Amino acid sequence: MSKPVKITDTILRDAHQSLIATRMPTEKMLPIVDKLDQVGYNAVECWGGATFDACLRFLKEDPWERLRALRKGFKNTKLQMLLRGQNLLGYSHYADDVVEYFVQKSIANGIDIIRIFDCLNDLRNLETSVKACKKEGGHAQIALSYTLGDAYTDEYWMNIAREIESMGADSICIKDMAGLLVPYKAEKLVKALKAGSSLPLEMHTHYTSGVASMTYLKAVEAGADIIDCAISPFALGTSQPATEVMVETFKGTPYDTGYDQKLLAEIADYFRPYREECIENGLLSTKVLGVNIKTLLYQVPGGMLSNTISQLKEQGAEDKFQEVLEEIPRVRKDFGEPPLVTPSSQIVGTQAIMNVLMGGRYKMATGQTKDFLAGKYGKTVKPFNKDVVKQILGDTQPITCRPADLIAPQLAIYEEAVKPWKQQDEDVLSYALFPQVAVDFFKYRDAQQTKVDVTKADSKNGAYPV
Ligand code: CO
Repeated sequence: MSKPVKITDTILRDAHQSLIATRMPTEKMLPIVDKLDQVGYNAVECWGGATFDACLRFLKEDPWERLRALRKGFKNTKLQMLLRGQNLLGYSHYADDVVEYFVQKSIANGIDIIRIFDCLNDLRNLETSVKACKKEGGHAQIALSYTLGDAYTDEYWMNIAREIESMGADSICIKDMAGLLVPYKAEKLVKALKAGSSLPLEMHTHYTSGVASMTYLKAVEAGADIIDCAISPFALGTSQPATEVMVETFKGTPYDTGYDQKLLAEIADYFRPYREECIENGLLSTKVLGVNIKTLLYQVPGGMLSNTISQLKEQGAEDKFQEVLEEIPRVRKDFGEPPLVTPSSQIVGTQAIMNVLMGGRYKMATGQTKDFLAGKYGKTVKPFNKDVVKQILGDTQPITCRPADLIAPQLAIYEEAVKPWKQQDEDVLSYALFPQVAVDFFKYRDAQQTKVDVTKADSKNGAYPV
């Protein structure tokens, strides 16, 4: 029986976010859109995640313009984005009215599939965005952050898959941001998820620990429907397995994608010189291209390892690295064993460093740690360590409701604040997510437009050379 596996290509989002700090500009994307559009991909992931911030902050581009330009180019292919649930693309929870408006505008500007996740897999943090996505006619995919630990049994995955289906999501994704998912565990995991739900299942992993393409092979054999890959010049390392390799792997089997290798080769040819350019200008470091087995040894994502090293360097305490590595899993246990992904990875990592450097555990706590233990990020799979909560929060009672229930509507406040800069409806959302960065961008945009206006005026006066 033929059951072709589908591929989502991440070249326009995760691939360059993982390898070159999200710096691919729109002008690099547009010339290849035609060819990407002919492959027959399940979707092209091209927006959300860190691309929004990078557009405004580093590339001086309007992320909404990028989305509209891509939508205009892709005639046949679904466009996918990554959304951090109630955090949207920022780092803290937003009110429901902001979440609803962001989802509405994302779909109105061209997104078909929204992949929504939460760092704690607390499905309550996904409710508003899933509902909004369905209301706007979008495909709502719920992504589960993959992690290891006592709490994450086959039963846990089966049950949460069942809950996701009853929430009205259209598909499920396993998001293995750290490359922790090894081939035979993937087989078991897929079976557990499939036992809980009949929704299409997509696998998302990173090549960091070197096992990812084998993981996909076992996952597909076990019933996974879609795999996330990147065209080869921006694949492997901390990015995804290579599209061409997976296409070739399944050729002539019941899972044959049917994609045209010649066409994929042309796409790779387009990106190869850009890869070389990125190596030369230092954007692409060979460090991220190798195999990092430490991520498996310590079960800590690669990005978190390098963050920890640089935080320790700043304190002149690099010699404490091993101690901190051992403290991270202990803090994670005290904090209810959450997956380590933004922002939980920073919260656990920074607290572990404090515990080691302050000469006593929880002598000091960050504001984020306090919020975390107060339940403001949501609910963890296991309960927090009661003694630690008491030590840090004293008699303050943690909240147990959906955190966003306590956030009053915010949209009107942002609308008011963005007035001096506003040129399009979407500007309020850029402002809500990254106020300072957005204002810097709006100023830049105004300045550019003044320049253009001057040249226009000149041409009217016949001052243009003919
Ligand atoms: Co990823």
